[in-house]
Amino acid sequence: MTQAERLTAIAATTLKTSAQFWFIVAAIGQWIFVGYILVHYAGPLLSGGLEAWNASEPGTYIAGDWLGNLAIAVHILLAIVIIGGGPLQLMPPIRARFPAFHRMLGRVYIPSVIVTSVAGLYTIWMRGTVGDLSLAIGITIDAILIIAFAIIALRHAMARRIAIHRMWALRLFMVVSAVWFFRVGFMMWMFLTGGAGIDMETFTGPFVTTLTFAQYLLPLAILELYLRARDGGSVAAKLVVSSILVGFTLLMGIGIFMATMGMWFPGHGA
Ligand code: HEM
Repeated sequence: MTQAERLTAIAATTLKTSAQFWFIVAAIGQWIFVGYILVHYAGPLLSGGLEAWNASEPGTYIAGDWLGNLAIAVHILLAIVIIGGGPLQLMPPIRARFPAFHRMLGRVYIPSVIVTSVAGLYTIWMRGTVGDLSLAIGITIDAILIIAFAIIALRHAMARRIAIHRMWALRLFMVVSAVWFFRVGFMMWMFLTGGAGIDMETFTGPFVTTLTFAQYLLPLAILELYLRARDGGSVAAKLVVSSILVGFTLLMGIGIFMATMGMWFPGHGA
């Protein structure tokens, strides 16, 4: 092996390890979020029906608005499958050892993300939610990307174009995870700046507007850098992207810790 080949191999391993580090931290953070959804939403639903959600999230159940109630219930319950199952779909050992499980979960995952996005669109435009118009526009673009990427990833899987399917599945994971990135990014920012650019009364401000688009654009951009560095990038490119991934993971780790302690841990209402 020449010196150049050795350096390339080291850079490739560094990049792979940084990506694995990112993925492990993200998977842990997403599963903590699923734990919160189970305790905060699934538990009360089983014991007291939809109305029980109003105790911690006033206005979630509105008497008479059956379509709105259905949309929000479907939206939140499917999130358990989506956020719980998403990381499992990306784990190479699971795909390699249990291909039937990967295909089965995929068949549930793809319709789930589409239905959840449609239900989310209905909720945001028919009922409204916190923040200003920018928040609604930002998440609407996310919904469109989720639906588009889900269809593209599915079509490539069905045509057995596996390498391209994987690329689109990764992009889908990023846009599906946007709502999670939003919470983690928000809490990380609160910790580091004390809430610069956020009006907590109205949930508006330059940071909220930036985050509503960055919640998917930033992860998508980092993913594209990773894919390019991995597939034919120079040694320098691989090392630069590795440091970006490690930096991003550390910031994400702060956000996950703060979100867990401040929003998701039992006893804290979000
Ligand atoms: C597929 C990705 C998505 C997942 C997994 C997801 C999951 C969730 C979860 C778990 C909640 C409850 C949040 C909490 O208590 O902290 C929530 C709330 C909400 N989501 Fe999503 N969501 C997704 C995409 C979207 C999209 C694309 C939209 C809009 C177009 C949307 C609109 C909403 C709204 C409006 C609420 C708040 C409902 C309320 O006011 O109580 N979501 N989502």
